[in-house]
Amino acid sequence: MKFYIGSDHAGYTIKGQVIEMLKSRGHEVVDMGPQSADRVDYPDYAEKVSKAVAKEKGSFGILICGTGIGMSIAANKIDGIRAAHCHDYYTAQMARAHNDANILCFGERVSGPGVIESMIDAFCSTEFEGGRHTGRVEKIMALQKSH
Ligand code: RB5
Repeated sequence: MKFYIGSDHAGYTIKGQVIEMLKSRGHEVVDMGPQSADRVDYPDYAEKVSKAVAKEKGSFGILICGTGIGMSIAANKIDGIRAAHCHDYYTAQMARAHNDANILCFGERVSGPGVIESMIDAFCSTEFEGGRHTGRVEKIMALQKSH
């Protein structure tokens, strides 16, 4: 899988670990920054990652801030993005299976490294189920286009 990844200062430390984790499992990773732990504004990185994912069909994103909340709110403003704010294996699994999420968001201040690894495992190993979920996801995307 190809991942674009970004964070703010509150997600900077785990971002480095997540990049190594993804690469060691054979995924392609593009680090969209930041490149230091200096204070930054999370919407700037949400925009960079979301635009890259929206532009490249089949790619995915990971966005990390303190809570995961700000990143997910900002990412979902970009047309074509379904960013899921997840907390554990189950929510990350359902984000792919039922919502066809293309960006995984979480918070370094609220989720430990073991839980974060399990979320990434779930996100990477789960396919969208389609079927009855397809029409629902299409309705989400129609909302994004019409408002
Ligand atoms: C930064 O202090 C913090 O507000 C940010 O990382 C994030 O949690 C916002 O949702």
